[in-house]
Amino acid sequence: MAAASAPGLAAGVLGAFCLVLWFDVISCEQLSSAQSVFGVVNKSVTFLTASSTPIKDILWKKGKDKVVEKEENLDESVYPPFRERILLNIVTGDLTIFNLSSSDEDEYEFESTSIKDSIKFSLTVFEPLPSPTLNCTLINETVIVQCGIPEVYSSHRDLITYSWYCPLAGCEDGLESSILHVKKENDLSQEIQCTISNALLNSTSSLVLRTCVPADHSRHRYVLLAVPLLVIVLIVVFLGAFQRWRAE
Ligand SMILES: *[C@@H]1O[C@H](CO)[C@@H](O)[C@H](O)[C@H]1NC(C)=O
Ligand SMILES: *[C@@H]1O[C@H](CO)[C@@H](O)[C@H](O)[C@H]1NC(C)=O
Ligand SMILES: *[C@@H]1O[C@H](CO)[C@@H](O)[C@H](O)[C@H]1NC(C)=O
Ligand SMILES: *[C@@H]1O[C@H](CO)[C@@H](O)[C@H](O)[C@H]1NC(C)=O
Ligand SMILES: *[C@@H]1O[C@H](CO)[C@@H](O)[C@H](O)[C@H]1NC(C)=O
Repeated sequence: MAAASAPGLAAGVLGAFCLVLWFDVISCEQLSSAQSVFGVVNKSVTFLTASSTPIKDILWKKGKDKVVEKEENLDESVYPPFRERILLNIVTGDLTIFNLSSSDEDEYEFESTSIKDSIKFSLTVFEPLPSPTLNCTLINETVIVQCGIPEVYSSHRDLITYSWYCPLAGCEDGLESSILHVKKENDLSQEIQCTISNALLNSTSSLVLRTCVPADHSRHRYVLLAVPLLVIVLIVVFLGAFQRWRAE
């Protein structure tokens, strides 16, 4: 089961929207009552009617199309593409949809003679989140790390937020943006993480900061310097010994 709703936020946003439209004589009634519900592909979601009294007759619609219909004392009729994919609670009217797909995304509406107004739901279906990409560069003694969403992922990118795990003091800036700045003098052996999240899912990638700065070749340079030095010392020692041998 993967379901969440944010009716408060949606109502607030729509409330502001409707205030603007008020004088344009656009009916906001149907907009303002839609509850946001989120689901994940292949998982299930339940629309709760929150009905306090038993429901006599039931009609669920997806946009203009019927999903399931039940008259009092009759069997329920389920319409494609929802056959074998829903569970209807005939007491409360709650509707569960299984094996969600992106095409299930729509406005849903519950109607019954047992309730005064219909109840509307707005369903958003997410694809599983990919691992975020991380790349970094060193600019002006500052390591800049950028967290991204792979381009092939197209499901509601605008609903994704970023967060970072960074155990260093210099990480405070931009913790909620896709870019993190870390001063180079920090302990670059530390690992940082970027997490992308939507209303239901999250996914994390990590990076060791040292991989962002050019490799330190100084040890190799010492070796390169040391080899000719050693050769010269050996030659001097050998020549000295040779001359001492000839002088005897
Ligand atoms: C959903 O299930 C179908 C069939 O089991 C599978 O082919 C598909 O990869 C699944 N999709 C996701 C996003 O899990
Ligand atoms: C739903 O998915 C499950 C497992 O992913 C599968 O066993 C089942 O047959 C699917 N049902 C429908 C109606 O597609
Ligand atoms: C990360 O890669 C993208 C695309 O290659 C590039 O535009 C961006 O500047 C890079 N960011 C950093 C911090 O290196
Ligand atoms: C680096 O710092 C110098 C001096 O503070 C500034 O002029 C320059 O624009 C900076 N470069 C970048 C890429 O930020
Ligand atoms: C990521 O999701 C898991 C459950 O799937 C949750 O326990 C965890 O707190 C989430 N992490 C973030 C950073 O949202």
